[in-house]
Amino acid sequence: MSERETWATRIGFLLAAIGSAVGLGNIWQFPFKTATNGGAIFVLVYLVAVLVIGLPTLLAEFVVGRRTRANAVDAFEKLGYRNWRIVGALGAFIGFWIVSYYSVVGGWVGRYIIGSARGAYFDAPAEYFGAVSAGPDAILFHALFMAITVAVVAFGIEDGIEKATKVMVPSIVVLMIGLAIWAATLGGAADGYSYFLNPDFSQLAGNAGEIIPFAVSQAFFTLSLGMAIMITYSSYVDEDTSLFVDGGAIVVTNTLVGILAGLVVFPILFANNIEASTSGPAAIFVAMASAFSQVPGGRILGVAFFAVVLIAALSSAISLMEVIVSWATDHFAVSRPVVAGGIGTALFVLGLPSAWDTAWLTWFDNLAYKLLLPTSVLLLLIFVGYILGQNAISELAKGSSLRSVGPIWLWTIRTIVILSVIVTLVLGIETLLAGDFLGLEFIGEDPPLVPPF
Ligand code: PHE
Repeated sequence: MSERETWATRIGFLLAAIGSAVGLGNIWQFPFKTATNGGAIFVLVYLVAVLVIGLPTLLAEFVVGRRTRANAVDAFEKLGYRNWRIVGALGAFIGFWIVSYYSVVGGWVGRYIIGSARGAYFDAPAEYFGAVSAGPDAILFHALFMAITVAVVAFGIEDGIEKATKVMVPSIVVLMIGLAIWAATLGGAADGYSYFLNPDFSQLAGNAGEIIPFAVSQAFFTLSLGMAIMITYSSYVDEDTSLFVDGGAIVVTNTLVGILAGLVVFPILFANNIEASTSGPAAIFVAMASAFSQVPGGRILGVAFFAVVLIAALSSAISLMEVIVSWATDHFAVSRPVVAGGIGTALFVLGLPSAWDTAWLTWFDNLAYKLLLPTSVLLLLIFVGYILGQNAISELAKGSSLRSVGPIWLWTIRTIVILSVIVTLVLGIETLLAGDFLGLEFIGEDPPLVPPF
């Protein structure tokens, strides 16, 4: 086993964790899931989920990682529970599953950088999305996205990730704020805000089975939970760091970026009479493309926007790859570039169906949200809540002066958090089983996802 690297600086860990959290989950998924799940009511359930379920779960992953200073699989063995290694392995698998189609969406983003520079989508934003989101184009850009991810990981933790994220995170926030201010000036912005921020509670009564699993899993997805990622990143953290303070900072920043994305997307959708509820994965792409086709300097703004989104997506994909590289280099005499290249190839292949037909992408995504993420998080919470128990509290206390947080945290995990995740899982499985072939009935039909506008 080689000597384990640690983060060069405390802010390095924070930024890398934020870099993992902030990504397509905030900028693409969050507006898209909000738009297709009833608007503000989804946002409300999501915000509660982030605070009540997401933050405690993030701390649970941190505790496992820092206590053992090991990769996410061996961490459980080091704690003395060899069988629970399955939780680390399952997390890594789920991250793998997600990144396969995440990379396809990352490819779309890359495509849109070029499309913006050339003004290619200016005449027909919705048709453009239909044309580039599936088939050979999508496969090519999916391959490019994966190749860049592999290249960054090959350089190693400090060189690659730490430096990159120092630039990425602040630039995302600045650009999103600028765009949100611009979006506020559009006619129709008020309707967009109302859809995004003014909950319609009657929606919950009829659609809880869809809204709750999507909103709770959105919290997991966007915080990179249930994918062994935060366990891995915190394994490089020293004991002077307050996990609670850093975890709080990550949750707040990550949530703000998601809200900002909504404040950009919804005014634009409404100002352009684009039907939010049927926009699907196209929402942000079509909204932004319509915007850039109308404003002066749209080409430059478009390039800047999609470039920032690409960077955000890369820093997330990198974090997943880091999980597997960390495990492999702890065990075998293999070099980072070799592992990264192998994983990149496997991810590319798994993502091929999603790149070929967006119906597959939705299917992969639904399975992740309704089944995989809640299962993985539930197992982790049972482990930390009931098996680690008091040991988890003492780990959390290191580097922190807030002594009362630990016991409250553990109690919350043992009760409401675990219970909520069980409810989420049951509702998710129920709606999955209600579809044909677990929701696969769309494949081969006319693409259901090219938006009807
Ligand atoms: N948290 C990431 C995001 O919001 C999700 C993610 C992380 C996906 C890592 C894949 C790998 O975009």
